[in-house]
Amino acid sequence: MRTVFRVYKGKKAEKLEHHLNQFLEFFDRPLNAAFAFIPVLQKDSEPLSPWGAVVRQREIINQLLFSEIQERRAKPDLLGEDILSLMLTAKDEEGQSMTGWELRDELMTLLFAGHETTATAIAWAMYWIHRQPEVGQKLRKELDELDENTDPVAIARLPYLSALCDETLRIYPVGLFTFFRVLKTPWTLMGQNFEAGTQFSPCIYLLHHRPDLYPEPDQFRPDRFLERQYLLYEYIPFGGGNRRCLGMAFALFEMKLVLATILSQWQLQLTSDRPIHPIRRGFTIAPEKGVPMRVLERRV
Ligand code: HEM
Repeated sequence: MRTVFRVYKGKKAEKLEHHLNQFLEFFDRPLNAAFAFIPVLQKDSEPLSPWGAVVRQREIINQLLFSEIQERRAKPDLLGEDILSLMLTAKDEEGQSMTGWELRDELMTLLFAGHETTATAIAWAMYWIHRQPEVGQKLRKELDELDENTDPVAIARLPYLSALCDETLRIYPVGLFTFFRVLKTPWTLMGQNFEAGTQFSPCIYLLHHRPDLYPEPDQFRPDRFLERQYLLYEYIPFGGGNRRCLGMAFALFEMKLVLATILSQWQLQLTSDRPIHPIRRGFTIAPEKGVPMRVLERRV
């Protein structure tokens, strides 16, 4: 929220957070995710129907976002280096600013595509770090070299932390598939002919579990990313091509800073020794019931 809005506190911020969470929770359930893809389900907008409730939430979110946009436009001194300010001051080739609806759409994308995905990846990373003590030890050794003045960019470049995030997104990629690609002309792939109009959706999970690329693919082993450099289409947690995830750099940066901050300051433990399996949560795959942990002590 701070990256997108800079200063955003108080009742209005709490209200936006609450409604965004409610909106996200609806799509968390696998069956409800169908509403996003099957337009016919979106017809019933009675207040008490499932889609009607979503429409109401969306209207409240729109009002809050539009009121924020108007306030900033009216008071240029509120503009800073946050994403909303950058978008408000951006101009296209013809000198035009973005319209209110364009700004609203961009904000929705940032707040939705960026929240659940990164949070899920961080939860998985916390699981593996604490599930495999040798992984946690190696990471802590690297983090112990840091001090409070370390540049965040240097943290994001730490080799073991980077390998750990890569392996986290390999073993259980947050998105199982990339978005669809549609053939514009007929195409032959590995001897199979496909007509124009065929839809393809590469399966990230299957690629990441190919034993020829990733020996013992079910083992969590960050070192594989230190021993070998993977090619662009051998490792695709963020998809690929020119429609690759727009938030990739931001998500990895956020993941690494959050993990480094938590682990340098706190000693944590998983509350159970039982393995945690992934389940489908709407658009993503996520730990079945979250990753319950307990705090043992403060490290600094
Ligand atoms: C660990 C976190 C994340 C993962 C695993 C992830 C994964 C993905 C994947 C697999 C795609 C589909 C790409 C394709 O079809 O080739 C995608 C698209 C996208 N993601 Fe992410 N994402 C993450 C975080 C974010 C964040 C933080 C943002 C924004 C701040 C974001 C914004 C987007 C957008 C806008 C698209 C659509 C791109 C397009 O169609 O041109 N994502 N993401």
